[in-house]
Amino acid sequence: MLEENIILPQHIAIIMDGNGRWAKNRGLPRTEGHKKGVEVFRQICRYCADIGIQYVTFYAFSTENWKRSAQEVGTIMNLLRGFLEELEEREKENEIENTAIRFLGSREGMAPDIVQMMDLVEAQTANKTKIHINVAVNYGGRDEIVHAVRKLAAAGVSPAEITEQALSDALYTAKQPDPDLIIRPSGEYRLSNFLIWQAAYAEFYFDDILWPDYTPDDLDRAINAYAHRNRRFGGV
Ligand code: FPP
Repeated sequence: MLEENIILPQHIAIIMDGNGRWAKNRGLPRTEGHKKGVEVFRQICRYCADIGIQYVTFYAFSTENWKRSAQEVGTIMNLLRGFLEELEEREKENEIENTAIRFLGSREGMAPDIVQMMDLVEAQTANKTKIHINVAVNYGGRDEIVHAVRKLAAAGVSPAEITEQALSDALYTAKQPDPDLIIRPSGEYRLSNFLIWQAAYAEFYFDDILWPDYTPDDLDRAINAYAHRNRRFGGV
């Protein structure tokens, strides 16, 4: 349960980890863990909207995840495709309730039909305001910074104009607040190239739950812990 009268994080970022181990523990192929992982992703999106979180970012597929078997990569891409097709369908029926969706990451190397749907969904939802859902796909934090610097260089920005703000505005998360709380379940204690620029002042929360077992109660626990942290941003 969420504690009463706490200040909620404005932006939560989540590393959806442990799908493979969850499946292995059940004698299932790893891909089954990803399928359950997407169900949990949907449930947590809904829950975040219900409790009034404004920005939620999920790490779905990293630039390094291409190293996995073709079967596993194919399954994750098909889950993403299914999610995008469902969004398009719901948009047609006018069912997406005030949700802005953005895909963080490089479009290079992604299947053209997926890129087309991503662009469409982003354009259709860009002005929605209740909750912003970011899905990081083909995403790497270092890659994002290189991409941003190239963008500034291509625009002819002079060295003096390269400020923290200018760089922030060239990232995939442009115009969004930095994450306040970064959650990594599944007992791993690293950032794995996720939002490395934006994480500068984030609070971290780790626990042992595998992502397919993750519930809104687990998120409540992380938010409650966050609410008791003393954030000083370098001050005293
Ligand atoms: C990490 O667990 C999980 C991933 C690399 C993939 C997560 C992707 C999804 C849940 C589907 C994405 C689609 C949408 C629509 C969001 P792992 O496989 O590294 O688990 P392990 O550490 O136990 O092996």
